[in-house]
Amino acid sequence: MARIIVVSNRVAVPNRDGGARAGGLEVVLRSFLKRNQGVWFGWSGRTVPKGEEAIRQVKHSGVTYITTDISRADFQDYYNGFANRMLWPILHYRLDLVEFTNRDMAGYLRVNEMFADRLQSFLKPDDVIWVHDYHFLPLAKALRDRGVDNKIGFFLHIPFPRTDILTALPKHERIILSLCHYDLVGFQTDNDANNFADYLTDECRMPSRDRRTFIAGIRTMRIGVFPVGVEMAEFERLGRRASKVASVREVVRSLADRSMIIGVDRLDYSKGIGLRMRAFEHFLGNYARWRGAVTYLQITPRSRSDIREYADMERRIDETVGRVNGHYGEAAWTPIRYVNRSHSRTALAGLYRSSRAALVTPLRDGMNLVAKEYVAAQDPQDPGVLILSRFAGAAVECQAALLVNPYDQEAMAAAIDQALSMPLDERKARHGSLVKVLSENDIKHWGSRFIAALTRPAPVATLPRAAAASYLAAAE
Ligand code: F6P
Repeated sequence: MARIIVVSNRVAVPNRDGGARAGGLEVVLRSFLKRNQGVWFGWSGRTVPKGEEAIRQVKHSGVTYITTDISRADFQDYYNGFANRMLWPILHYRLDLVEFTNRDMAGYLRVNEMFADRLQSFLKPDDVIWVHDYHFLPLAKALRDRGVDNKIGFFLHIPFPRTDILTALPKHERIILSLCHYDLVGFQTDNDANNFADYLTDECRMPSRDRRTFIAGIRTMRIGVFPVGVEMAEFERLGRRASKVASVREVVRSLADRSMIIGVDRLDYSKGIGLRMRAFEHFLGNYARWRGAVTYLQITPRSRSDIREYADMERRIDETVGRVNGHYGEAAWTPIRYVNRSHSRTALAGLYRSSRAALVTPLRDGMNLVAKEYVAAQDPQDPGVLILSRFAGAAVECQAALLVNPYDQEAMAAAIDQALSMPLDERKARHGSLVKVLSENDIKHWGSRFIAALTRPAPVATLPRAAAASYLAAAE
């Protein structure tokens, strides 16, 4: 069997970084590699002076972890700059937050070239390469330029917007069209995949066989939809066990019989945390009978704090929490408990199971695994209610949740009231439907589905190679 090389910016190297920090991408890739072994290659998490970037290799439970340092200057341009001040906002439909500089873009391309060099140095001819997320859109092109002809797939964990938003990215062809050097490009939802196909067809006039198969130079590039899932049965077991853990019991005791609503998000503007807190403020204002009877726990580890927009947002959220607690709180009751510390997956599973409702209301999200994990962790005999943004990728599968528009605070307040008042029969019915759908797409099958699609023989191109190649050459 061919060796699988997974490439992502973050790598969850065992015994480092405390697992507690792990975001969605690390969780799903860890789960994939646990089953398939192979190599996981990416950033070491360290920034160092230029010229001192080291490569490290460790082996653990059959997986080889290869990581590289990045120089401080490169990291600033590549990660804090182009990836997170240009690509992240634009792909999350936030043109108002975009900040483009040629210097950041050059840094992003430079780091992709550096990753291609390092990856090529340990590549074998029949390795299958699987690249993840917006940090590495042009990595396949950098590898192809070096003569690498292996199968290379790409999966985007975050949303992919419509052409009219995407084309606000200066020199978008240089970055987006370079995706055509992959053999397979995967997305979370049909909507994302269709937006990419529209971009290639309408903006780039790329020749195609159908909406999922494009003729890209000498290769055929296919588009697929692979929604990320969670380990349903394992997470239910974890929730059951974790609800008995001392730290979780202490939280429950401290509620003094009040219901708990939970929110868990990285501190990121895409998560809609500020609007959600304002909706909770409306809820306390409009549904007075719940005052003193419900506590909203928002767990929000800090993230990307070196970027100005993140620091500004942190200050605004702090102000909102202070205002709501000051206005509605009592000596014996704090309406919003706001915690910036990250929690282990076990603690989260226990807290999910102990919460009457979850507020997962991003303004835009590729998938959102908190939504799915909340459902998985519930007690089927007494489940809580998922309140979910219609703009999260998870909404496609989670139609039985209470779907809300995160911009409509009155409607969100009504949804909170509905969730807290919902009779047991309805809670069970909604939970049963959610578990059924989510179990059909358990994360166990996600990676193998992608690799099977990637390694399937490509359909034969219908355009003369030279003509097809000119579409890509024009963009470079
Ligand atoms: O897909 C986006 C994502 O990789 C998430 O999976 C993860 O939670 C987050 O971004 C981590 O961001 P960063 O690597 O910048 O801390």
